[in-house]
Amino acid sequence: MNMTFDEMKEIEDKYLAPTYQKMPVAIKSGRGCKVWDVNGKEYIDFMTGYGVAILGHGYPRIVNAIREQLEDIVIAHSSLYNESRALFLKKLVSITPKDLNSAYLSNSGAEAIEAALKAVLKATKKKKIIAMNGAYHGKTLGALALTFAEKYRKAFDDIIYKGVEFVEYGNLEAVERGRKLDEYAAIFVEPIQGEGGIRLPPDEYLKGLREIADKNGILLVVDEVQSGLGRTGKMWAHEHWNIVPDVITIGKGIGGGIPMGVTVARQEIMNVFEVGEHTSTMGGNPLACAAGKAVLDALTEDNILENVQNVGEYLIKLLNEEVGKSKVVREVRGRGLMLAVELRVKFLEILFKAIELGLLTLYSGKTILRMLPPLIISKAEAYKAASILRESLNWYEKNKI
Ligand SMILES: Cc1ncc(COP(=O)(O)O)c(C=O)c1O
Repeated sequence: MNMTFDEMKEIEDKYLAPTYQKMPVAIKSGRGCKVWDVNGKEYIDFMTGYGVAILGHGYPRIVNAIREQLEDIVIAHSSLYNESRALFLKKLVSITPKDLNSAYLSNSGAEAIEAALKAVLKATKKKKIIAMNGAYHGKTLGALALTFAEKYRKAFDDIIYKGVEFVEYGNLEAVERGRKLDEYAAIFVEPIQGEGGIRLPPDEYLKGLREIADKNGILLVVDEVQSGLGRTGKMWAHEHWNIVPDVITIGKGIGGGIPMGVTVARQEIMNVFEVGEHTSTMGGNPLACAAGKAVLDALTEDNILENVQNVGEYLIKLLNEEVGKSKVVREVRGRGLMLAVELRVKFLEILFKAIELGLLTLYSGKTILRMLPPLIISKAEAYKAASILRESLNWYEKNKI
């Protein structure tokens, strides 16, 4: 079966619930940092399934682990024991901060957040939460309560959890101002905001949040769904600022492309759940766990973080040189391989031009081009991507302004 783009489009547009902003590309296959569409056209993949393919496509360790697990068994409910799950958990807690060694396994970033939300509310017996302007934690109802953007919330306003108060991201004073802080259960924060447009906080920010939390008996939940697993050059983005959270949420690349979400916390926090109180049929399934173990092994054994540091530094310098000088670019920013080019104009025509020229990438808001390349990217591939971006901007400058 080899469907054409038009055939797929017709079926998907008719039968897939219309909740996605579609792009004019039908992807067929991928290897490393490249993907190919149904017509054989090649793209450098800076989209990576929204930051999922952290080790690119077809990474041998992951492919082999999934293949082997497929032969054994795909599903064994978390009420049973399973070697694949045990090995994943052992590896996971070896790379989380020392006391964060109790993990709830689910199937997505939003589910990781749901578990964190229920855990902190139950553990503290308090109802109020602080979250950040610009935050994105997912779109299920609990996660949506912590997600800032009005466009996602407005239709559900009357059923969204009302305990969340939003404060300016990066501003410690905004957290303390006018609040009896001991009434708050938790602070939810992305160490670097992803969907919000790759926003880095001031250097003292996370340390400051940690101090406020400690002083007032508040739990600090750090959402590493997008920024974690080496994306910024350290295993966890919060390590750049030397803090230890109470809860970490993990998603996207953790399952090597198999759906997986993880909430890790100190034992006394997770222990507030009673048996059966929070479960998931698919959570912790052996297939996801086998893939997850392979991902974590690769991150710790295959020099991935070194590559992120090297190529990340190279790419941000290159972007500054190649595209940063364009009239339509406001700023190039990021950490490691979590990058953004903020434009002075709407991104759409430039994004579509880049796709036409062979670079698939992401966006944020209306004016930001967002890049989440595979962490295994080479300098040569990074150079090619930056060149395509420069060419797209040149085209825009010549034809659109
Ligand atoms: C920081 C952060 N948290 C949570 C989520 C939600 O993850 P999912 O789409 O897997 O539910 C995302 C997704 O982009 C995210 O970036």
